[in-house]
Amino acid sequence: MNVRQLAVKTLTPLLCDSGALKYSLQKNLVDCPDNLKPLLQQLCYGSMRHYPQLLCILNKLVSKPLKPKDADIQALLLIGLYQLYKLRIAEHAAISETVDVCKALKKPWATSLVNATLRNFQRQQSTIIEQLSSDKSFKYNHPHWFIEKLKHNWPEQWQSILAANDLHPPLTLRTNISKVSRETLLNKLQRQGIAAKETEYSKYGLILEIPTDVTAIEGFSTGEFSVQDEAAQLAAPLVDPQEGENILDACSAPGGKLLHLLELNQGKATTFQGLELEQHRAERIAENFQRINLACKLHIGDATNRDWWNGKLFDKILLDAPCSATGVIRRNPDIKLLRKSEDIHSIVKLQRAILENLWGLLKNKGRVIYATCSIFPQENENMIASFLREHEDARHIEINENWGVSRKYGRQLFPAADANDGFYYAIIEKTDA
Ligand SMILES: C[S@@+](CC[C@H](N)C(=O)[O-])C[C@H]1O[C@@H](n2cnc3c(N)ncnc32)[C@H](O)[C@@H]1O
Repeated sequence: MNVRQLAVKTLTPLLCDSGALKYSLQKNLVDCPDNLKPLLQQLCYGSMRHYPQLLCILNKLVSKPLKPKDADIQALLLIGLYQLYKLRIAEHAAISETVDVCKALKKPWATSLVNATLRNFQRQQSTIIEQLSSDKSFKYNHPHWFIEKLKHNWPEQWQSILAANDLHPPLTLRTNISKVSRETLLNKLQRQGIAAKETEYSKYGLILEIPTDVTAIEGFSTGEFSVQDEAAQLAAPLVDPQEGENILDACSAPGGKLLHLLELNQGKATTFQGLELEQHRAERIAENFQRINLACKLHIGDATNRDWWNGKLFDKILLDAPCSATGVIRRNPDIKLLRKSEDIHSIVKLQRAILENLWGLLKNKGRVIYATCSIFPQENENMIASFLREHEDARHIEINENWGVSRKYGRQLFPAADANDGFYYAIIEKTDA
């Protein structure tokens, strides 16, 4: 299979509303020759990052929508347009290599469609782009609903958030301070010729100047560091575990925040437990436990019920809730395609059900540290506000930090160039009431 066919194979399930780019690409990279892996990644990530613009162009060029069974041809057209619009591949090669995939897909009827569409774009590129310049989805490279929602919620920040979503994310490491200090790790990186700088808000983070294969860096296999965005590194210090406490990490996989908690509290008499709904995702935590050589009790269970619970109340619960992931679009650009406006309502319902259930497992004076990688208030401060309204025994604890924007409830971080992802944190405490 050639690289463009593998790209089609990667993107077709996403166009059929199934799977996610990260996992679909992982599967197909296995069949890709090493020298073409970067191109496969670029074709897939680039087509998703520019999906709203490519779709606008495609809709101008192809008047009749393709049938759902021809999602592979739609994927091929997007990949073809991406090469012509955004890559410096010689145009004639890009077109002929892309058109050739129709045969491999056993859809020779599509050859003329793909060829004509790409050649029309090549000929009329400047006119088409000029015509689309007043279309918001094209101009801002995001779906209409997303732009409108963002504008409504963040009238001052919406344009900078959209711009940050289209940047390449930095590669940030979290130092495992139970093994090495951040300073020592920075020196070690420098000795290996890897330039890095310290993160501004996390005491543990190092941002690499040029993203690289971390598994090849000395100290990775021995657990001296993990890959974790700076915003996510702020969770464990907010949990602030104390000697003797019983702490739950309620939505654990792949285990980044749980591992950080364990690293910071090695040797303390603090009990940590993880909970994750998906078995296959929990396996990722186990792999990380092994590499870091730390572990704790891990439940495979549903945070909306108590089947997995041993009856002992918790002092603290970190709830890193399933969310729209709209703060991490630059890492997962397929969200531009996969996330729909109507999803937000059902996501909020799930977050609320989890919070409601876990609240009953908390000791008096216990705390929930609520986190999402969303930038929508519905999933964040509004969720906390409605929970506080309906629970007399819940009180909001202010987070006095210098990062993010302070809201009535919690703090909101926005994705920032060469720095943290978009994230939200809030703390609520159980009171005598
Ligand atoms: C935002 S991710 C957590 C990231 C993780 N805390 C970390 O730092 O690596 C949310 C996780 O919640 C899990 N999840 C979703 N619904 C759940 C439920 N009802 N009960 C438990 N876990 C759930 C998802 O499978 C996903 O792994």
